[in-house]
Amino acid sequence: MLGPVILAASRSDRMRRLISAAPVTKQVVDRFIPGETVADVVPIVKDLTDKGLELTMDVVGEDITSPEQATAARDAYLALIDHLAGLQLGERVEMSVKLSMFGQALEGGHELALANVRPVVEAAAAIGTTVTLDAEDHTTLDSMFAIHEELRKDFPGTGCVIQAYLFRTEADARRLAESGSRVRLVKGAYKEPAEVAYQQKHEIDKAYVRILKTLMEGEGYPMIGSHDPRLIAIAQELAHKAGRKLDEYEFQMLYGIRSDEHLRLAAEGHRMRVYTAYGTDWYGYFMRRLAEKPANLRFFVRSMVSK
Ligand code: FDA
Repeated sequence: MLGPVILAASRSDRMRRLISAAPVTKQVVDRFIPGETVADVVPIVKDLTDKGLELTMDVVGEDITSPEQATAARDAYLALIDHLAGLQLGERVEMSVKLSMFGQALEGGHELALANVRPVVEAAAAIGTTVTLDAEDHTTLDSMFAIHEELRKDFPGTGCVIQAYLFRTEADARRLAESGSRVRLVKGAYKEPAEVAYQQKHEIDKAYVRILKTLMEGEGYPMIGSHDPRLIAIAQELAHKAGRKLDEYEFQMLYGIRSDEHLRLAAEGHRMRVYTAYGTDWYGYFMRRLAEKPANLRFFVRSMVSK
């Protein structure tokens, strides 16, 4: 019940100001967003890759309000890629981007987002890695998929995310399950209306399995974005049935969530990629993590009242 309330708060400017300014917030935020600058996260990149994990990096930020902020987002990713170049980790560290941070919701936003994200994809390719386009709320997805298709003409490895809770996703998965495509399947983290999305957990989980089956039986490269132990076991079974080798799909989880499981899957020989977010504009990302697990909210509130 709390999830939708927290998700509504994630879009409120007043709540953003209140929570961002709370003195103890930072300690709780650090669990999910381990730094504010590139310098903060480079040691984490080294540590996780030394442990046999792979990463996808997210410079946090979304729902920007000016073209200058979109340019700043592009530049933040370019600076990150510049740092990664020196580490020579190639596709072991890729980028995840939210197109709303690149200007998608502004006037002329589709073209603006494409113009801002293209140099990031080019720079990533130049250091031997790729970019995945995150999925935001359902109103942004036609534009996201069109940008994905456009980028794939020059950079076929550009990935995208699909969300099991949306009714449209089974058709999207069939379209995307083609040779060379990289598709991350997640349950979905936004507050979506009943006209477009399943509302019950069991319905979302069932849709996840159906879509995963399509991806595993298809020709592309499935990226299983979930911490759900049941879905991870089903993914292994479906991969096996589809005759996929261990390097023909990968698991992905968020930094700070079920970290033991990251290491366990990697030790079993799986490709395991940790979605690692950093930056100062962490509010939206953090609130979605609170909404996913009410216990996180209790922990957050307790840390505030115990100060
Ligand atoms: P579920 O929510 O059922 O959780 C399973 C178990 O995992 C829980 O019981 C708990 O133990 C643990 N867990 C899950 N979330 C937790 C949390 N916040 N804190 C503590 N424990 C938690 N969404 C989206 O709409 N667009 C996107 O682009 C992405 N991108 C993305 C990338 C990656 C790599 C991941 C893993 C997830 C996303 N998501 C996303 C988020 C996704 O839609 C979903 O909200 C979360 O993954 C939670 O769903 P689970 O599949 O983990 O299952």
